Amino acid sequence: MKILVTGGAGYIGSHACKALAAAGFEPVTYDNLSRGNRWAVKWGALEVGDIGDAVRLRAVLDQHQPAAVVHFAAFAYVGESVENPNLYYQNNVCGSATLLRTITEYKPIPVVFSSTCATYGIPDQVPIPEGHPQRPINPYGFTKLVVERILADLDRAYGLRSVSLRYFNAAGGDPDGDIGEAHDPETHLIPLVLAAARDGTAVTVFGDDYDTKDGTCVRDYIHVADLADAHVRALKYLLSGGATCALNLANAHGYSVMEVIETAKRVCGKPIQVKMAPRRAGDPAALIGSSERAREKLGWIPARSSLEMQLTDAWNWMRKPQSSR
Ligand SMILES: NC(=O)c1ccc[n+]([C@@H]2O[C@H](COP(=O)([O-])OP(=O)(O)OC[C@H]3O[C@@H](n4cnc5c(N)ncnc54)[C@H](O)[C@@H]3O)[C@@H](O)[C@H]2O)c1
Repeated sequence: MKILVTGGAGYIGSHACKALAAAGFEPVTYDNLSRGNRWAVKWGALEVGDIGDAVRLRAVLDQHQPAAVVHFAAFAYVGESVENPNLYYQNNVCGSATLLRTITEYKPIPVVFSSTCATYGIPDQVPIPEGHPQRPINPYGFTKLVVERILADLDRAYGLRSVSLRYFNAAGGDPDGDIGEAHDPETHLIPLVLAAARDGTAVTVFGDDYDTKDGTCVRDYIHVADLADAHVRALKYLLSGGATCALNLANAHGYSVMEVIETAKRVCGKPIQVKMAPRRAGDPAALIGSSERAREKLGWIPARSSLEMQLTDAWNWMRKPQSSR
């Protein structure tokens, strides 16, 4: 059974393709390679194309006849979305709207969508349940909320069922070392901390006066292999007739920036220099998710939840020679 994976050349999408193939599906990556890597497409075909290109999309749908779509393709940097919101509304909203219109015109096959905890904004409570108000505080989070709303409307109008997976902070790499995180530029904390350990450079910590255990921001890190597993489960749920829903993917446990750095020192066996900087606008003090609903609906239980494990897999990937990619 073929599954169309938009953004399958990216970090999380490529790990999901590996998990889909292991579960007996045939992933077909649809990616414009704007931020992904050709070498990361190792399980199934690569169709180069843009989600905003309805003609190309329709040709790929007709050619491969997928049973479902997993939609990762997006731009995903909060800071960039604040500086250049046009880019984000065009790619994440207009691109997704074109993709979803093309799918409904083809046939209403189910969709698993990459949403985010950034749709919640500043939380009233942690761990955040799915019923928490969604009040994004940056364009990136808002683009993802719009797509969630489009999906709800498409179900009502055309019977297009979907699962929106609201990930917290993706981390780690493939436990077998086949693939891993490779963004350029990199903005995620864990690869930045590990690069600082590897290169002997300093990592910048934005804000140490938050109302948290040590004053630095607290985030819920979730292993990319656990995210990949959740996508396979969400797909099986939809293919067996499951109803549209939104689910958090989180560990319900937060680590502060300083805890990440201290754990990274142990994992890498190296010192890490820290440079303190003022808070960044729009960074909530703590984001921790409840994933009770994913456990109930999908039977999903993260298997690689410890921070040590996430850092170890990311570190092993980072130290792999680039020539092996
Ligand atoms: N990384 C995280 O912590 C995190 C957290 C929450 C949600 N997400 C969401 O998960 C998804 C994947 O994130 P990631 O970290 O793997 O990002 P990524 O940048 O590594 O992957 C995104 C992929 O989408 C492709 N793409 C972008 N725009 C496209 C377009 N118009 N047409 C075709 N392909 C296009 C890129 O080339 C890239 O391969 C994104 O939708 C992101 O918003 C990520």
